[in-house]
Amino acid sequence: MATTAAARPLLDPDALETIDLADPGVHAEHDLTAVWHRLRTEQPVYRHPENGDAPGFWVLSRHADVSAVYRDSARFTSERGNVLDTLLTGGDSAAGRMLAVTDGAPHRDVRTVLLKAFTPRALAPVIDSVRRSTQSLLQDALGRGDCDFAADVAANIPIAAICDLLGVPASDRGHILGLTSAALGSDHGMPTEADTWSAKNEILLYFAELARDRREKPLDDVVSLLVSDDFGDRQLHRDEVVFNCYSLLLGGDETTRLSMIGAVQALIEHPGQWAALRSGAVSIESATEEVLRWTTPALHSGRTATEDLLLEGEFIEEGDVVTVWTASANRDETVFERPEVFDLGRTGNRHLSFAYGAHFCLGAYLARAEIGAVLEGVRAMARSMEFAGPSQRVYSNFLSGLSRLPISVTLDPGYRPSAS
Ligand code: HEM
Repeated sequence: MATTAAARPLLDPDALETIDLADPGVHAEHDLTAVWHRLRTEQPVYRHPENGDAPGFWVLSRHADVSAVYRDSARFTSERGNVLDTLLTGGDSAAGRMLAVTDGAPHRDVRTVLLKAFTPRALAPVIDSVRRSTQSLLQDALGRGDCDFAADVAANIPIAAICDLLGVPASDRGHILGLTSAALGSDHGMPTEADTWSAKNEILLYFAELARDRREKPLDDVVSLLVSDDFGDRQLHRDEVVFNCYSLLLGGDETTRLSMIGAVQALIEHPGQWAALRSGAVSIESATEEVLRWTTPALHSGRTATEDLLLEGEFIEEGDVVTVWTASANRDETVFERPEVFDLGRTGNRHLSFAYGAHFCLGAYLARAEIGAVLEGVRAMARSMEFAGPSQRVYSNFLSGLSRLPISVTLDPGYRPSAS
């Protein structure tokens, strides 16, 4: 049986000017390690050429520059969009109405209220439920011997946690899962614009209805928090409520899924690390951080320069699109010792997978708990895991990882299933 999931050919860094980083196929079908290395060492502030109607944009690849942009929301705003797709097509329609694409005081006000739902204490019941459901999903899937880890396990964990948070009824969750996949990437090759827009609209309509219900009858969930009057001197507008529900759903589902799937892929490809995890030589906490660095599910973030400025000798004009590539920063050799090595015991792991600064991921604690629950579960249940068929990558310039990962598993003879 194969010991690596389909390896992707390395892209030649000498062909830099011909590589379109906005093209989902470039990321899905190629290994960009050498390209990122060249950019970090030779062109850390690189002007990506325009392409047809799409304008050019800046590409930042070093850890220090990526962190600096994340820290500086005043000079690098998210208010016109925070991913390439929206920035290259005229801006985000939710700008100023959704946390990730709002800056300044309005961002702080909404974030302060939402944070109430994301403290370790508030999340405790959600995380208990994540642990129970992860255990039971793993038991069912691994117990069969063969499974698609992506569809049978990972697809169900983050969406259930977010639906718990938002108060989405169990009967609607399958529908919501299908829509989130369609809205962000594509599990089945290149997404069409019509597919993604229609899925996004359906999600927005769904949450508009849920918000109406919660206004009439508040419950103990995030939608009720968003329709409450906790926002200083005002209530959130209906659009702000709906866009923030949307952002929690899309921000928290696929990223976390891709990390879990990537964790299992990496454990199969690195038997030494799998042995270290099983023996307890590495902690679940450090393993989780390395999984986040290694998988880097969100490849980049985007910003717009609010003034003319000089960066590493390059002149950036007000209004220019500036992209920061976590995919590269997380492999920066000036920050990480042996960055191309998957090392679950890595210490001082300053990965930027959850970004940095004002927009630092709101769901980081939850995502870490979910990935940790998967690592604990496979460690307790599996003796060995192997690839059992072709995997499938997501097609996206923003998300990275596998949407399909068939594996076969030999259970640990000492493992005793719990009744669930
Ligand atoms: C491995 C999983 C995850 C990754 C890699 C991830 C990554 C990120 C990144 C890179 C940002 C910053 C975007 C920017 O600055 O433009 C972000 C922000 C955000 N994330 Fe996550 N995320 C994950 C899980 C979650 C979860 C589970 C939730 C919620 C349930 C969530 C909700 C959010 C929200 C609401 C923001 C916007 C925060 C703000 O603008 O203040 N994320 N995330």
